[in-house]
Amino acid sequence: MNLLETVHLKRYFGDTRAVDDVSLSVAEGEFVSLVGPNGAGKTSLVNVVSAYLKADSGTILFRGADLTHASVTDRVKAGIARSFQIVNLFDDLSAFDNVALAIFSRQGKTVNLMALAHLDRDVTAEADHVLAQFNLSAKRSELARDLAQGERKLLDVALAYALRPKLLFLDEPTSGVSTRDKGQIMDTIASVVRGEGITAVIVEHDMDVVFKYSDRIVVMHQGAILAQGTPDEIRKNEQVAMILIGSADAFARKD
Ligand SMILES: Nc1ncnc2c1ncn2[C@@H]1O[C@H](COP(=O)(O)OP(=O)(O)O)[C@@H](O)[C@H]1O
Ligand SMILES: [Mg+2]
Repeated sequence: MNLLETVHLKRYFGDTRAVDDVSLSVAEGEFVSLVGPNGAGKTSLVNVVSAYLKADSGTILFRGADLTHASVTDRVKAGIARSFQIVNLFDDLSAFDNVALAIFSRQGKTVNLMALAHLDRDVTAEADHVLAQFNLSAKRSELARDLAQGERKLLDVALAYALRPKLLFLDEPTSGVSTRDKGQIMDTIASVVRGEGITAVIVEHDMDVVFKYSDRIVVMHQGAILAQGTPDEIRKNEQVAMILIGSADAFARKD
């Protein structure tokens, strides 16, 4: 059974067909990249599946259960979490406290911000472990606002991961960071995701990154799925190269 299945999913904004009849399946354990030009509908699709946007029509099945009308909280409980194109951190809290808060929210505990986490040994240990997995241990006590952009992006992914999802959506986890730092961020994410057997759908623009890390690539254009396949199949697809790069042999030339 597929982990996720969207069936004829639609979300329009007036005349803009942000998500236009998207039927997407994601199998357990897959590392899928979602690509497409700006405005293709990638973020809207992630938003609809993670309940940050309502679908106009269509169905969202997760492990066979219909979650189309479920709240963000219920989808997190079911096992769907996401990070944000523009990071969603508590800037005035430390890296550690941001992770601890995510763990508390997963556990459904009420949080006294003043005493955050320091009283609960299990949460402290788990938050430190998550920070270590994302190479952020050295930044444990730094305020989120003082972290470098790449560290902020990783911390945002770490918060989604701390919800212990089965399916993790990452919306441009490397946007705004240097090409040099991109590889390191993706290596870290890929090692956690693969190591923990989490299914991941990643929105990414850098096709070198996409080809390197993906089991499967889904190409969106004008709200719809234009093509999908293995990195090799997508690399050979001239229509995709045209739409993404503006040149039919853009990928082929790299070989
Ligand atoms: N809240 C919104 N209100 C109106 N239009 C929106 C809104 N969010 C997205 N759109 C439009 O929907 C289309 C898809 O946007 P988006 O999902 O952000 O694309 P991508 O993430 O692929 O760049 C774009 O034309 C965008 O302008
Ligand atoms: Mg986007």
